[in-house]
Amino acid sequence: MTRTYGLESTLLLNTKASMTSTPKLQSKGICVDYVQARLGRSIRALSKIDLSVQENQFVSIVGPSGCGKTTFLNVVAGVIAPSEGELTLDGHRVEGPGRDRAVVFQQASLLPWRTVLNNVLYGLECQGGDVTQALARAHELLEIVGLSGFEDHYPNELSGGMQQRVNLARALLIDPDLLLMDEPFASLDAQTREIMQSELLSIWQRTSKTVLFITHQIDEAIFLSDQVIVFGSRPGRVKASISIPFERPRQLSLKRSPEFLNFIDQIWELIESDVRSAARGGKETAASSDP
Ligand SMILES: Nc1ncnc2c1ncn2[C@@H]1O[C@H](COP(=O)(O)OP(=O)(O)OP(=O)(O)O)[C@@H](O)[C@H]1O
Ligand SMILES: [Mg+2]
Repeated sequence: MTRTYGLESTLLLNTKASMTSTPKLQSKGICVDYVQARLGRSIRALSKIDLSVQENQFVSIVGPSGCGKTTFLNVVAGVIAPSEGELTLDGHRVEGPGRDRAVVFQQASLLPWRTVLNNVLYGLECQGGDVTQALARAHELLEIVGLSGFEDHYPNELSGGMQQRVNLARALLIDPDLLLMDEPFASLDAQTREIMQSELLSIWQRTSKTVLFITHQIDEAIFLSDQVIVFGSRPGRVKASISIPFERPRQLSLKRSPEFLNFIDQIWELIESDVRSAARGGKETAASSDP
């Protein structure tokens, strides 16, 4: 169990700030301890996370299983309160969920009894937004994610990739300042995943969002991002922050270039020992309360 703000919603409410000089998102010394009352101990999941994300940047976090990526995303989403440190969005301290952030998870979790269009409208509806006024934008977003003509289909009539695109349109309809994505393509097959990466980039360029993206896949992180932040484990911490200089728009063929492969090697070297440890079952990662 850890401290929360007592709110379950992940599609959230806050003010839009107009400041431009401060980073969009800034994390200073964020620590998270999970208290395990049953075992009489606590686990430090994150230790002193310092990072910043600029407006309109695409930033990815990579790292081994259990290094605290989802925990950090939940802190940014405002559903977990940090044990120490401060997180600001547009210069304002994050103190709970807000409509300025939307989260896209690994599973599309669409409502099977709702059509594609009604699934896209669902997030806004939950927030008490004006659904009638949002209809035109919902159609526009379905076009952006390549699903025009599928408005009246049901989720079970769509492929996994199409369902994830509906999920993305649903998040974008909230018009969040910050889009938080936790391994959104992990359940897709390799080919669909590649196509979705390209499509996400084109959607990102058309909608000018700031994105914080979590993935296990190093090549995915490099291909999509302006900045790749590498987390290490025992406990979760920032090992490196690497700028990705490739020009945009990026083509999938970029992944085969020597420069791209160099970045993969560089990041893999940073996380290899932690990944091997996590693959062995994380015995060494079963941390105590000591940071
Ligand atoms: N609710 C919880 N209670 C106790 N410990 C937790 C809880 N949630 C996560 N943890 C622990 O915190 C650490 C970080 O977990 P987290 O889910 O953030 O990792 P992750 O990097 O997202 O992993 P993965 O890549 O497998 O999704 C792990 O050691 C995990 O066991
Ligand atoms: Mg996770």
